[in-house]
Amino acid sequence: MYLTRVFCVLAALTGVSSAGHTASKKTCIVPAGGSNATDDAPAIYRAFRKCGRGGKVVFEPTTYHVNSVLNISWLQDVDIDIGGTLLWSTDIQYWLNNSLDVGYQNQSTALILGGNNVRIDGHGVGTFDGNGDYWYEWIREQPNTSNYPGRPHAVTFNGLTNSVVQGVNFLRSQMWTMSIIYSHHVLFESVFVNNTGNRVSSSNTDGADTIRSSHIKFNNFTVYNGDDSISFKANSTDITVTNSHFHNGLGIAVGSIGQYKGQFETVERIHVDNIEYDNTLHSVYFKTWTADQNGYPPNGGGGGLGFASDMVFRNLQARNLRGSAFAISQCTRFSGAPGDGNCTNSKFEIRDLTVKNLTGTTTSSRVASLQCSAVAPCTNIGLLDVDLTFTNGTAADEYLCGNVKDPRGFECTGPVCEGGSATGEC
Ligand SMILES: *[C@@H]1O[C@H](CO)[C@@H](O)[C@H](O)[C@H]1NC(C)=O
Ligand SMILES: *[C@@H]1O[C@H](CO)[C@@H](O)[C@H](O)[C@H]1NC(C)=O
Ligand SMILES: *[C@@H]1O[C@H](CO)[C@@H](O)[C@H](O)[C@H]1NC(C)=O
Ligand SMILES: *[C@@H]1O[C@H](CO)[C@@H](O)[C@H](O)[C@H]1NC(C)=O
Ligand SMILES: *[C@@H]1O[C@H](CO)[C@@H](O)[C@H](O)[C@H]1NC(C)=O
Ligand SMILES: *[C@@H]1O[C@H](CO)[C@@H](O)[C@H](O)[C@H]1NC(C)=O
Ligand SMILES: *[C@@H]1O[C@H](CO)[C@@H](O)[C@H](O)[C@H]1NC(C)=O
Ligand SMILES: *[C@@H]1O[C@H](CO)[C@@H](O)[C@H](O)[C@H]1NC(C)=O
Ligand SMILES: *[C@@H]1O[C@H](CO)[C@@H](O)[C@H](O)[C@H]1NC(C)=O
Ligand SMILES: *[C@@H]1O[C@H](CO)[C@@H](O)[C@H](O)[C@H]1NC(C)=O
Ligand SMILES: *[C@@H]1O[C@H](CO)[C@@H](O)[C@H](O)[C@H]1NC(C)=O
Repeated sequence: MYLTRVFCVLAALTGVSSAGHTASKKTCIVPAGGSNATDDAPAIYRAFRKCGRGGKVVFEPTTYHVNSVLNISWLQDVDIDIGGTLLWSTDIQYWLNNSLDVGYQNQSTALILGGNNVRIDGHGVGTFDGNGDYWYEWIREQPNTSNYPGRPHAVTFNGLTNSVVQGVNFLRSQMWTMSIIYSHHVLFESVFVNNTGNRVSSSNTDGADTIRSSHIKFNNFTVYNGDDSISFKANSTDITVTNSHFHNGLGIAVGSIGQYKGQFETVERIHVDNIEYDNTLHSVYFKTWTADQNGYPPNGGGGGLGFASDMVFRNLQARNLRGSAFAISQCTRFSGAPGDGNCTNSKFEIRDLTVKNLTGTTTSSRVASLQCSAVAPCTNIGLLDVDLTFTNGTAADEYLCGNVKDPRGFECTGPVCEGGSATGEC
């Protein structure tokens, strides 16, 4: 406040007009080429160069064809208004060669957005369309279908602070929808994601992934997909998810984590309240790598340290869960691990969490499947006020445990299956 005033006064005294001042806010309307033969990325970049600091960038109600990578990481005090659709091209070889490094897990991305005080508003119509149907068909033909090197995330928010992303639709993301890294104090409000494939089913299309980020809020977040609805990875702290809707995917994931040998990573202070699940595999699940390192990220790794703690998941309403409502697997590992590895040696600790008021229907008899580490057992796990039934009204009542200390609100009913898993149960 004080600085702004000083700046305006100085500007008045010197006769220099202030580009950052609201009264003289620069607006750039992004022109569209009109066909996929014209790459609109250069025009988009120019608009942000001109108006991305102290101005406004407007996408009109039309289709923009994005045929090349964009790295727009230097935004400052800008309004971004999206009235149309940004449609990404399907030259798969181009994207594999050129997509940008996310900075974690050797993952890559088609678009980087970052900066301070950024307000992105799609007004419920603005759409990022990854044209993913092409990717979903292509990936099926590859030897490695998971985390294929160079397959891009739709967008990476990198170094985004004090910002709001609201009313934006994400359709058929190329891979993960949004990775959020080095970002702090960001609100995602009424964001809609639909990665359901039109021709074949989609794979590896997480709704959102947080990494090295804090104070991130998701409110009224809707995801239709086949992978993690939302996932909190290394050093995600103070994350809130409220009033959200997850369809067909795997549910809320913590991890995978512990992928980097010897590195200390945490997930702390997660608050989840009022979630509707429809046909998801789990409501909440955890996945940590084992203590044995095999290969490197994205698909290999292991041997990481750290903990996940202070988490509350409450008021969860489920319809037709497909697996254990709540699941922990500490046996994520590279498929080629020698002798199939050891499922209980992870040094990563899961502790101090509560699931409260989880109701609805399930097709699995398992309320909980807790495959914890013998080296760092799961401690102080609370499952309270759980009421899950089959469609015939019979209650699901299995709580399967391995290395669970001080359970709260439930008793273990049997041993859990021990085996490799990337989706929470073997
Ligand atoms: C433009 O779209 C058509 C299909 O609508 C596709 O066959 C063609 O490869 C695309 N061209 C580019 C440059 O993306
Ligand atoms: C991608 O890289 C390969 C190998 O370097 C090259 O042969 C190919 O022409 C490139 N394709 C595109 C579209 O950049
Ligand atoms: C994106 O641009 C920023 C600023 O120019 C640069 O520091 C960063 O390395 C770029 N990221 C990638 C992945 O190229
Ligand atoms: C990327 O992969 C290389 C080699 O496979 C590995 O050495 C490196 O640690 C990985 N980097 C990240 C950030 O995961
Ligand atoms: C695919 O995975 C195999 C191991 O399963 C690895 O040797 C190979 O480098 C991978 N290829 C790509 C393109 O990731
Ligand atoms: C929630 O988000 C949806 C888009 O997914 C939007 O249509 C709806 O109006 C939002 N609801 C509220 C209360 O903002
Ligand atoms: C999601 O996309 C699929 C495939 O286009 C479509 O059939 C479905 O109606 C969409 N769901 C919603 C809620 O828009
Ligand atoms: C996570 O944070 C810890 C400190 O809390 C730091 O030592 C570690 O390097 C961070 N890990 C990553 C992957 O950023
Ligand atoms: C349990 O959660 C549902 C929403 O899933 C909510 O409507 C209900 O009021 C909650 N019950 C209690 C006792 O808080
Ligand atoms: C796995 O490792 C743990 C901890 O080192 C050990 O107690 C256990 O015996 C090992 N299990 C197997 C099957 O080797
Ligand atoms: C209800 O459905 C479950 C799961 O299909 C089945 O195991 C159980 O026997 C059924 N109970 C009754 C009373 O039919």
